[in-house]
Amino acid sequence: MANRILPFITLVFFSTLFSMVIGDDGVAISKQYPLVVSTWPFKEAVRAAWRAVDGGHSAVDAVVEGCSACEELRCDGTVGPGGSPDENGETTIDALIMNGVTMEVGAVAAMRFVKDGIRAAKLVMQHTKHTLLVGEKASAFSISMGLPGPSNLSSSDSIMKWSKWKENNCQPNFWKDVVPLDSCGPYHAKASMDVKDGGCSTRNLMGVAEPRSSLVGPHNHDTISMAVIDKMGHVAVGTSTNGATYKIPGRVGDGPIAGSSAYADTDVGACGATGDGDIMMRFLPWYCNEYQSFYFLNDEVILGKPSADRKYAQLTGNFAWFGSIRNNKLVWVVYELILKFETFPANMRLVFLIHYQVVESMRLGMEPRLAAKDAISRIARKFPDFVGAVVAVNKNGVHAGACHGWTFEYSVRSPVTVDVEVFTVLP
Ligand SMILES: *[C@@H]1O[C@H](CO)[C@@H](O)[C@H](O)[C@H]1NC(C)=O
Repeated sequence: MANRILPFITLVFFSTLFSMVIGDDGVAISKQYPLVVSTWPFKEAVRAAWRAVDGGHSAVDAVVEGCSACEELRCDGTVGPGGSPDENGETTIDALIMNGVTMEVGAVAAMRFVKDGIRAAKLVMQHTKHTLLVGEKASAFSISMGLPGPSNLSSSDSIMKWSKWKENNCQPNFWKDVVPLDSCGPYHAKASMDVKDGGCSTRNLMGVAEPRSSLVGPHNHDTISMAVIDKMGHVAVGTSTNGATYKIPGRVGDGPIAGSSAYADTDVGACGATGDGDIMMRFLPWYCNEYQSFYFLNDEVILGKPSADRKYAQLTGNFAWFGSIRNNKLVWVVYELILKFETFPANMRLVFLIHYQVVESMRLGMEPRLAAKDAISRIARKFPDFVGAVVAVNKNGVHAGACHGWTFEYSVRSPVTVDVEVFTVLP
């Protein structure tokens, strides 16, 4: 290792840290929380969370109040009961809560007959040593713990939507490589001889996914994903959704998966996502390892001109250093190695999911805007048609969003705003 280089790296790294430290001690900071950030202009939900957190409740309780308000209001028809019918016309609920102080998580998925998703998730977190309960067993648990049910989660709206979809030969739907293609099921796998245009299509060979935009839009794929920082500076996140409209029964997206739909770490911040959960839940931070901005530093740091096809990295003990050019400056980020694979750095840290990576990026001093953008662009490289958004907030209350395939809005309430403010993010 080139010792002459190390002071330089350390210097740049600490200057990244330094800006965070300034933030920590800055006067502006004390005004930045409590703070509530939510996907979409779900203003009533943000107000409900704000009332709780401003009244001195914990971040966890405020998240429950906020998401619960959305469930009651059936935000956009995609949160709470009465929306997003599956192929059988049934509405089911997915929800997640995460305490960024204790790193405890509670979640329910594909829960039937109980409308209080976020409260059920909190009961899982509070009263079990598990993380995720699913299906009818999640319903039984929730009812046994005092939540109302069993109730009919359908509404005249959802039933009407579903009837129309049936009349339209069950189009669009989430099946692929099956027969029949253009009518309702039951479906069967296409015999492999028929698959010459399907399973091994040029599209697949080229690594491009099927377009799915017709199924995914603002009114059939929303999730409330909410982050709260309370007066103590503690961070919590929660999500609630009734999933994708016309989903195949049993489908669970990113909503109830910690690290995929949302993640919180009080030392760093939080992030939340909305969009095509089937896609978003597939992405690991190092999945592609296609950072054009990373330079491979083997034994020696090469400070020459960046070239897109060269990747530099350097290992010092348990830390990996990555350099990237931003605004003509070489900026270093440092990752602590948890898992080290032979093919470093390709498979390094395979353990982290995408939004965790947003939090990770922020832990290393990346501002929320870059961290969020980074996470989204990684997916967009593989799934150009995908529709999704991420909102990130660091522990100082600085927030930002990033999106792909649609215009995204998120809502914020902090001591410096009089009411909920809505921010628009363009793809
Ligand atoms: C549930 O509610 C929907 C909409 O009101 C209704 O059409 C359906 O018959 C109800 N299902 C049951 C089992 O009561």
